[in-house]
Amino acid sequence: MHKESRSKYNSHLIRLIIALIIFGVAGFFARKVFIPDSMGEYGHYRGADIEDQKSIPIRLGTNDSCFQCHKPVRTIHKSGVHKTVSCEVCHGPYGNHIADGKKIGTMPVKRDQEISQLCLRCHNKVIQARPRKSIRMVGLPEHLEQKQVRMTHTCNQCHMVHDPLMWINQAREMMGLTEVQ
Ligand code: HEC
Ligand code: HEC
Ligand code: HEC
Ligand code: HEC
Repeated sequence: MHKESRSKYNSHLIRLIIALIIFGVAGFFARKVFIPDSMGEYGHYRGADIEDQKSIPIRLGTNDSCFQCHKPVRTIHKSGVHKTVSCEVCHGPYGNHIADGKKIGTMPVKRDQEISQLCLRCHNKVIQARPRKSIRMVGLPEHLEQKQVRMTHTCNQCHMVHDPLMWINQAREMMGLTEVQ
């Protein structure tokens, strides 16, 4: 009885050892198959990933990339209060519009009430988290009431979208409300 139970105990151990060897060998080959060749080439990551990332087509540009073709907008945008705002925030990514230096697609252009929604994405007073000192906020309907216009007025009826204070400053100058700078 005692002997039998001992041999059972051994067979248990042997099965365990065989299982561990199988796992070990399988693990060794799985490592060879699954770990990419360039792993560890530069560090603890797949070295070839650098080439992969480099070959992804660039979708976003800078404002300078728009300026080379849009000279009139450039003049207005660069001198105005929106000079720090990216064209692509309002018009979408460069990559949808230009490839190899040529126009391949149409940029979205907001019109009418959509423009007000676009402006309020950044300038809406209800956005509490925005630092008031760095970006001016307005609330609706107060802003339009203050300016004594109808609620159906859209922002671009008074604010030039590419330089929101341009027309307002020009109007002021014409009325003699501010000195011509
Ligand atoms: C704050 C949002 C905003 C930014 C930033 C902006 N745009 Fe615009 N853009 C508009 C809106 C809105 C219109 C449509 C104006 C309208 O209908 O009164 C427009 C019109 C245009 C048009 C004329 C297209 C048409 O069919 O009327 C061009 C070209 C253009 N933008 C290029 C640019 C470029 C280049 C930049 C960056 C220098 C830029 N925009 C930055 C909102 C913006
Ligand atoms: C290689 C030249 C080129 C570059 C770079 C370029 N555009 Fe254009 N874009 C054009 C041409 C051509 C048109 C069509 C004629 C026009 O409206 O002047 C156009 C039209 C537009 C329009 C009007 C809607 C449309 O697609 O017809 C907007 C808005 C616009 N571009 C915004 C931009 C913005 C924003 C950038 C930068 C991210 C940019 N463009 C970069 C050539 C260019
Ligand atoms: C991506 C965010 C963004 C969008 C969208 C945007 N703006 Fe601006 N706007 C700014 C920033 C940043 C400034 C510069 C900081 C400031 O003066 O508030 C600015 C400045 C202004 C100013 C000058 C405030 C002052 O007295 O100095 C006005 C007016 C204005 N924007 C109106 C508009 C209008 C109208 C639209 C829609 C066509 C619009 N903005 C869309 C970010 C934005
Ligand atoms: C009836 C014309 C009119 C309309 C429509 C209008 N505004 Fe204004 N807005 C003004 C005037 C005028 C000022 C004062 C500019 C100044 O003091 O230099 C102003 C100022 C602002 C300022 C700066 C506020 C500050 O505290 O200095 C922002 C931001 C602004 N407007 C955004 C908008 C947005 C967004 C819309 C559309 C929802 C809009 N405006 C519609 C005329 C208008």
